[in-house]
Amino acid sequence: MSTLLGPDQAEGLRKLMRELPKSNTKIIAVTSGKGGVGKSSFSLNLGISLANMKDNPRKVMVFDADLGLANIHILLGFIPKFNLFHVIKGQKKMSEIIYKSDYGIDFIAGASGLSQLANLSDEEKENLIEALKEISYADFIIIDTAAGITSNVISFVASAHEVIVITTPEPTAITDAYGVIKSIVTEVENPDIKLVVNRVKNTTEATKVAKKVIDVCSQFLNVKIENLGFIYDDQIVQESVRKQIPYVELYPSHNVSVCVNHIARRIMNLEVSEEESGWKKFFKNVFK
Ligand SMILES: Nc1ncnc2c1ncn2[C@@H]1O[C@H](COP(=O)(O)OP(=O)(O)O)[C@@H](O)[C@H]1O
Ligand SMILES: [Mg+2]
Repeated sequence: MSTLLGPDQAEGLRKLMRELPKSNTKIIAVTSGKGGVGKSSFSLNLGISLANMKDNPRKVMVFDADLGLANIHILLGFIPKFNLFHVIKGQKKMSEIIYKSDYGIDFIAGASGLSQLANLSDEEKENLIEALKEISYADFIIIDTAAGITSNVISFVASAHEVIVITTPEPTAITDAYGVIKSIVTEVENPDIKLVVNRVKNTTEATKVAKKVIDVCSQFLNVKIENLGFIYDDQIVQESVRKQIPYVELYPSHNVSVCVNHIARRIMNLEVSEEESGWKKFFKNVFK
């Protein structure tokens, strides 16, 4: 199997990111067992939410590392010409491949070519390290990975400070979430794993699914998973895909966007206030 970074390189990358001039860059990998559970739309909207936090805006870089189905650029409505592959090959400078979006986040495109980088030459490694130094201005780097347990995904997960596993309430997605957590626990030392339940009907369902995953991981893998929150199933997500405008921009006060803002606040360890949470509004609507 090919990897972008071997285990040593992943650890090296993690160390490197910590030693960079702005050493508090936090790398978050977003992954899942099953495909199509909403990683890309979540990664993008989470990034925008972190970047535009009223009381604490952050510099955010979103990196599309889904090598097979790179698609965040589609959600943003543009076609990237160059990607990290060109930088590693020395054909482009990092500044030439960073896309500055209208939404306060920067973006780097993934490339199918990346999966061929099993054996980076010394010069290419040097290029990659120099490239990473150039994005250390970011407070958060969000890596949208592919689904499943390929060595590429594990490399990205291993180089991240925390990993968010996405599931939906579907039984197959839950089983696969457990599977991916199991391999993270096996392959990564002291991983910091968090859970987001996407596409829920209501809070009862969200709680039930999260509890199921957290309990089974605690029981069989002896690992503590933090519940970061949930996102409602709503057609505004598809609408935002069609319009190629992220939903936190298109409908900033919609329940779906409020859910993502909550998750962003939890990641930043900020208070989630009643007022801001939109719960009042939510209950008002429910009991109207
Ligand atoms: N909360 C949600 N409500 C409704 N549809 C959603 C939601 N999250 C994701 N989707 C839809 O699911 C599909 C897959 O989402 P995507 O983000 O591409 O998943 P992944 O990156 O995991 O493959 C898209 O059509 C998207 O619009
Ligand atoms: Mg995706």
